[in-house]
Amino acid sequence: MVIHSADFVVSNTNPSLCPAPVKREFSFIGRSNVGKSSLINLLVNRKNLAKTSSTPGKTQTINHFLINSQWYLVDLPGYGYASVTRSKHRSWGSMIETYLKKRSNLVTTFVLLDPRHEPQKIDQEFIQWMGDQSLPFVLVFTKADKLSKNHLMIAIKKWEKTLEETWEELPPIFLTSSEERKGRDELLAYIQTLLSSD
Ligand code: GTP
Ligand code: MG
Repeated sequence: MVIHSADFVVSNTNPSLCPAPVKREFSFIGRSNVGKSSLINLLVNRKNLAKTSSTPGKTQTINHFLINSQWYLVDLPGYGYASVTRSKHRSWGSMIETYLKKRSNLVTTFVLLDPRHEPQKIDQEFIQWMGDQSLPFVLVFTKADKLSKNHLMIAIKKWEKTLEETWEELPPIFLTSSEERKGRDELLAYIQTLLSSD
């Protein structure tokens, strides 16, 4: 798929203020700092469309980007940000839960995982919650450049084994590196497939 245009539309903390749900959208979620905003920039070929930072907790709002005037990429705040207060954690939870449950034009969610860490409870709980809500998602391993090929394969296998304990069928799994521009074609092709099927 060729990206002709990518435009920032709106940031908000109130899911009901998101753009009218008339164009299909794809959202990006995962632990703080896992590389959601960087991956969106890789997909649209822009350095700084989605704001990134080496400090976790950069993205705090629901951010809509309109792609090729036809569909949205949505950058979401990360979960598991250690220094977040309990009340903030609750409001994050309800904002994201409402968004994911109510967004009628949401096609699928990309759940990002850092392969350098063992399967983490917070990621597993989030994936379980998506399943319980019957929300479609795929898994995306980020920062592939940080591990050797061998260690990457071991990490992904470990994740697959963990998921197979509770899931009969695994979702699609992608491997990416925003640093080395890996996985872009595969993710865009996947999005294209979903956009072409009604
Ligand atoms: P929050 O908005 O805080 O939840 O974080 P995020 O998931 O949007 O992460 P972000 O894209 O801001 O990236 C966090 C840090 O990881 C930044 O310093 C990025 O440069 C770095 N980073 C992201 N993707 C990659 C990657 O593929 N490889 C490497 N080496 N670093 C990456
Ligand atoms: Mg971000």
